[in-house]
Amino acid sequence: AHVWRGLIEEYRERLPVGAATPVVSLGEGGTPLVRAQHLSERTSCEVWLKVEGCNPTGSFKDRGMTMAISRAKEEGAQAVICASTGNTSASAAAYATAAGMRCAVLVPDGKIALGKLSQAIAHGATLLQVDGNFDDCLTQARKLAEAYPVELVNSVNPFRIEGQKTAAFEVVDVLGDAPDVHCLPVGNAGNITAYWKGYREYAEDGTATRRPRMWGFQAAGAAPFVKGHPVDEPETIATAIRIGHPASWATAVAARDDSGGRIGAVTDEQILAAHRWLSSREGVFVEPASAAGVAGLLAATEAGEVDPGQRIVVTVTGHGLKDPQWALELAGAEDGRRRAVEPVRVQPDAVTIAR
Ligand code: F0G
Repeated sequence: AHVWRGLIEEYRERLPVGAATPVVSLGEGGTPLVRAQHLSERTSCEVWLKVEGCNPTGSFKDRGMTMAISRAKEEGAQAVICASTGNTSASAAAYATAAGMRCAVLVPDGKIALGKLSQAIAHGATLLQVDGNFDDCLTQARKLAEAYPVELVNSVNPFRIEGQKTAAFEVVDVLGDAPDVHCLPVGNAGNITAYWKGYREYAEDGTATRRPRMWGFQAAGAAPFVKGHPVDEPETIATAIRIGHPASWATAVAARDDSGGRIGAVTDEQILAAHRWLSSREGVFVEPASAAGVAGLLAATEAGEVDPGQRIVVTVTGHGLKDPQWALELAGAEDGRRRAVEPVRVQPDAVTIAR
């Protein structure tokens, strides 16, 4: 049987690593591509979910982090730093630990999910809770990386993008070619940049015969690409993508335009409805931000903008256990409106189930 060796070993010849690069891996990549039966029916398309919550720390960030940390170690770095809405910090903390490095993370105070916070703490990162949003954190992280001998491992680090592009390789390797459309959430815009790079590289060397249209989706309260300019006060319940000044602006616009794609916005209600749909219909549990791509696909379908019969891949970026409060608040609400769950309390010797 083939044993997955982590994405650097699997795609070594397509990544900027050499024989001397110390590979720091937790077995990331090789995530499931799941046929979404109900989404396929609802869209009259063939829809697949790239389930990135199955990475070691529960999000796609591990793809970039194995590269960034391996290269930082090669350069002799002893400490790394990042700004984060939670997943990057969880990943950086884990990979820095595996590499024997120290890690400092800057997160927006009170605006990161508990699961992510606990990961950074469990892995021993120095946690700086900033009285501001992600964009403020990134500004500070950049300054600290200039002033001190620490490596910045946000997606402005080019090795992050290199690692993340492998998700596009995996999609083509499984499906045999690129899909018609690739949907995903957009926050700081590193991931849409990375997928587009991966698809381009496979098309350039003939591994794929074509490239997909890239469809990115932002939360309506944090949608700078839709507005056409940065947003100073981003707001959304999808804290992972609560970002107003995306760092990878030009490359995300290029991914959108060169692919003939689009970047749209979805409301928090649409995000929560898609989150609920994924868990209650498809059996796939994601964090709210991760449902933005599905929310966007459903909105486009309802608007008559999705031609039937297409092959569509949607990346669901992070695991539902990162931010479980939404599952509890949303249980039973088909339309995504909030409602508390009433637990059924029973005596251990008197359990009956109503018919
Ligand atoms: N989905 C999840 C679960 C995320 O954590 C992020 C970004 C995105 C989507 C958006 O990806 O930034 O490449 O456009 N999270 C970053 C973080 C900002 O700090 O964890 P993007």
